Amino acid sequence: MRRGRHTLDQYSVPYYGFQTAGSIVAGRNTMIQLVPRIQRMGLFRQVFIVAQPSLKANGIVDQIAGELSQAGMQVRITTEVRPEPTADQLREVFQAEVSPAQPDLLIGIGGGSVLDATKLFSVMLTNEDDVESMVGTDLVANPGMPTVLIPTTSGTGSEVTPNAIVTLPEQQLKAGVVSPYLLPKLVILDPVLTISLPKPITAATGMDAFTHALESYISNKANPISDMFALESIRLIAGSLLPSYSDGSDITAREKMLLGSMYGGMALTAAGTAAVHALAYPLGGQFHIPHGVANSMLLPHVMAYNLDAIAERLQPVARAMGLSGSGSREGGFHAAEAVIEQIIEWTRELDIPQNLRVFHVTEGDVEPLALAASKVTRLMNNNPKKMDLDAIQEVYRKLLP
Ligand SMILES: NC(=O)c1ccc[n+]([C@@H]2O[C@H](COP(=O)([O-])OP(=O)(O)OC[C@H]3O[C@@H](n4cnc5c(N)ncnc54)[C@H](O)[C@@H]3O)[C@@H](O)[C@H]2O)c1
Ligand SMILES: [Fe+2]
Repeated sequence: MRRGRHTLDQYSVPYYGFQTAGSIVAGRNTMIQLVPRIQRMGLFRQVFIVAQPSLKANGIVDQIAGELSQAGMQVRITTEVRPEPTADQLREVFQAEVSPAQPDLLIGIGGGSVLDATKLFSVMLTNEDDVESMVGTDLVANPGMPTVLIPTTSGTGSEVTPNAIVTLPEQQLKAGVVSPYLLPKLVILDPVLTISLPKPITAATGMDAFTHALESYISNKANPISDMFALESIRLIAGSLLPSYSDGSDITAREKMLLGSMYGGMALTAAGTAAVHALAYPLGGQFHIPHGVANSMLLPHVMAYNLDAIAERLQPVARAMGLSGSGSREGGFHAAEAVIEQIIEWTRELDIPQNLRVFHVTEGDVEPLALAASKVTRLMNNNPKKMDLDAIQEVYRKLLP
């Protein structure tokens, strides 16, 4: 078993690496840096903005578009990307709006759905293949058009990951396109944009960010780089999730959440998420349970299943979460249980349901759900404890009390 604090030879990976966005500008009101930074990046003629609808409605996107036009660029905007879009929906927007504009720069401003769509549009412009055939790791043949990504949820961390997730209704699953070509040239991390996030989305996306950090930390592919980002992400989110939920205008909490979310994205880029995300995918693909909600529901149960494999490993996590009295007693079980209890407590305080029936899942769905989750081997292989079909079913059943 890997220990809580370790030397390099205690990791399971033979080597490790890390790649991230070309450049990152973070801080309050950094949106004003957007146009000058783009001008410094190169000469662009045709800019395509993929926007979260509320940011179009409140004038922010029009303001950016105005500034880009004044700087001599043609600008087109779409607000047509739906939350957690299907491959067909993406193709539709691409054919109707993106492709005819022939952009040489794409800007995505929104939650993970908008950012992932922007990343996919960028490579759809330069590759003949359709989205489905890019699903998998390193199946994108050509680099895409340059992108600028501006997250408005905290969040997926998509702004710094080489992943883009797409819903595949025929397979009743969500799946990832994974390619370094999806990394953006520029990221703007402005917490002011997240002030308008409604409570339920603050809760679900915040728990998603936490899940990225925790799953990366216990992943079989964890390494010194991912650990550094994961622990700092856990520390930031543990201290700011409830404050940002109870008072959405708390800019300090919002700023910590946005940073914690980006670090979570960096951690998962370096180490990968695991069984929680794998089990969440069919819940999203089949029952349209929002990604963050599915993860928060599954997180404590998958961690409880993993417990004996990760107990020691969770000690630094407990400390980063500020859980007092979580010493090394009983090989870390005390600390590990405290972590799991805290997660359960959060889901209660954040009003996240703990019952899949709320989303019309029934006992009869458990077997097909488990089969679909078991096929997400890209993530299942990262889980520190092997999960067979029975174990997966048992976790889903915990959520059907
Ligand atoms: N690429 C990655 O590395 C990665 C990682 C995790 C999840 N994902 C994917 O990201 C998607 C989920 O993204 P998400 O959780 O950010 O949610 P989302 O993008 O689907 O947005 C959720 C809702 O919040 C609204 N919203 C977003 N920003 C807002 C704001 N500032 N104010 C008010 N409303 C706002 C959206 O309109 C939408 O209705 C899923 O498809 C998931 O699988 C991707
Ligand atoms: Fe996620």
